[in-house]
Amino acid sequence: MRHDFYAVIHKALRRELALLVAEAGTARTPSDWRAIAGRLRSVELVLDEHAGHEARFLHPRLCEIDAKLVERIDRDHVLLEGSFDAALRAVDGAASSGDADDRRRAYRELASFVVRYSQHMLVEELEAMPAFWSAATDAELLEIHARLVASIPPDTMGSFLSLMLPAIDLDEQLELLGGVRATAPAPVFAGVMELARQILSPPKYDALDAALGGAS
Ligand SMILES: [Fe+2]
Repeated sequence: MRHDFYAVIHKALRRELALLVAEAGTARTPSDWRAIAGRLRSVELVLDEHAGHEARFLHPRLCEIDAKLVERIDRDHVLLEGSFDAALRAVDGAASSGDADDRRRAYRELASFVVRYSQHMLVEELEAMPAFWSAATDAELLEIHARLVASIPPDTMGSFLSLMLPAIDLDEQLELLGGVRATAPAPVFAGVMELARQILSPPKYDALDAALGGAS
C-alpha cells in the first residue's frame, strides 16, 4: 500500500465532525449548545493547522504536478472557512438564545459545513493523493510527511493525537505510535501512551499496549 498523507487525519476529522452533528441533533439547552461551541472551536484549531500543513508542505510539490488542482483546493479552503464561520455563529446563537428556531438553524448550518468538508476531503483523497502517486516515490512522500510532522509543536500534536487515536484501526495506531517511539525521546513517547490510555477504551488501549510489546 502506498503512503497516504490524508488517510489518518481525515479519519480523525470525519469521526469528530460526525460526532458533533450527532450531538447537535439532541442538544436542547443553552448549556448543551455551549458545549458544542467549545468542541467546535477545538476542531477549528485542528482544521486550521491541517490546512496550513497542506499549504506549506504538500502544495508546493503538488503544484509541480497539477497546479490547477492546487488552485481548486486553495479556493475550497477559503469557502470552507466561510461555511465553518457560519456554523459557529449559528451554534453560538443557539447557545445564547435557546430558541427552537435557532437550534434548528444551528443544526442545519453545522450539518451543511460537515457535508461540504466531507466532499473536500474526498477531492484530496481521490484526486490529490493519486496525483502525488503518479509523480513521486514513497520515499519522497515520507520525507515530505516527516518534515510536516516535525513542524508540529507538542501541544498541537496532543490535539491531533486526541482526535486521531480513537478514529483509526490498530494497524494505523501501531504505525503512528511506532513512528513516535522511533523518533521522539522516551518521555515524549511515555506522554503519548498516557494520552492513549486516557482516550481509548480499556480493551482498545490494552490491545495497543500489547501490540507495542507492553510499551507502558
Ligand atoms: Fe484540505
